[in-house]
Amino acid sequence: MKLPAIATSVLITYTENFDGDPIIVRSPGRVNIIGEHTDYNEGFVLPAAIDKATFIAIGKREDGTIKLVSKDYHESYEASVSVLKPVKSWPTYILGVVDQLIKRGHKLRGFNLVIQGDVPIGAGLSSSASVECATAFALNELFQLHITPLELIDIAQKAEHLFAGVLCGVMDQFISILGKKDHVIKLDCRSMKYEYEPLVLKGIKIVLFNTNVKHSLASSEYNTRRHECNEGVALVKQKVEGINSLRDVTLQQLKQYVDPVNKKIYARCKYVVEENIRLQQVCEALKKGNISSAGNEMFAAHDGLSKEYEVSCKELDFLVDHVRNIPQVLGARMMGGGFGGCTINLVKEEFVDELIVKTDRAYAQNMGKQLTTYIASTEDGASLIYQ
Ligand code: GLA
Repeated sequence: MKLPAIATSVLITYTENFDGDPIIVRSPGRVNIIGEHTDYNEGFVLPAAIDKATFIAIGKREDGTIKLVSKDYHESYEASVSVLKPVKSWPTYILGVVDQLIKRGHKLRGFNLVIQGDVPIGAGLSSSASVECATAFALNELFQLHITPLELIDIAQKAEHLFAGVLCGVMDQFISILGKKDHVIKLDCRSMKYEYEPLVLKGIKIVLFNTNVKHSLASSEYNTRRHECNEGVALVKQKVEGINSLRDVTLQQLKQYVDPVNKKIYARCKYVVEENIRLQQVCEALKKGNISSAGNEMFAAHDGLSKEYEVSCKELDFLVDHVRNIPQVLGARMMGGGFGGCTINLVKEEFVDELIVKTDRAYAQNMGKQLTTYIASTEDGASLIYQ
């Protein structure tokens, strides 16, 4: 089988730097059709893995040293399996996974690792989850640890919590490991039950417009949103039995018990409860092949994210408003944690080129920044591609 170009690239760098023959794995980034900031509220998400991924070439060492080479950062890094601490740059996502494995009782020796990817960094396409998942998947294969996919997901998520300091939900790691080409996953983040739903987009492309605004606020504000949602849950819990998360809360309860106490918390919680309802509607619409109805829910989701949940930014709002009244754009919204990154757009195929030209120009004129565009197609989740 012919290796993808990035796999060949990590293989060459591995053999230039280290002895022996490595294995190579890939783990992808993701899009999310709808269901944003719902995962850590025990709600639903609807992501798909995409054709942009992190690739890792990895081989065992005889000692306890970890040697890392990043082709994207043109840097190398050395650590020991017996001393693992978070660091401020790319190795933290890898070390966080090793730390989790050791904490779970796996006896790891050292290893050599070369990493490279084409998931744009800081674009809201889950580049960090793809690194964590590629690492977890690679170590599982290399040391034959027999870890189940669900535990790999948990390991990758905990690495993000403890080594990257973002209290993320489970969506990104879940889809990076378990994604399936031509499908979205409808994941219930309370029960962790999931279904693959075919994503049939006849004549429609998924276009991602990257604001090129790095979501620097994202980690602190992300954690704040989590706390705000918990505050809302606590207010309802005082009045109603059996409430554990926003999943258990109705719009009416929010109006009654949260709105009079704290308007901001009310707006946050209302967004989340409504987002779960929108997601169910999108699933129905996709089943019927009614993409424009799904697209309308995406626009509504953006408005909630921007005005109620307040995780958008002027560049994301501009991009969504710019396409809102174009009939060939069926739906658009900001995607991922927010404060920068990409919008996701469902666009009639024949209009894609024209849309890119027009949006590029409008974005530069109005926001004074350069736009980057990706056309995403769906792909399978993590896999071993060379051994
Ligand atoms: C980030 C997190 C996810 C999810 C999204 C928002 O991507 O990693 O868990 O919360 O933000 O939907």
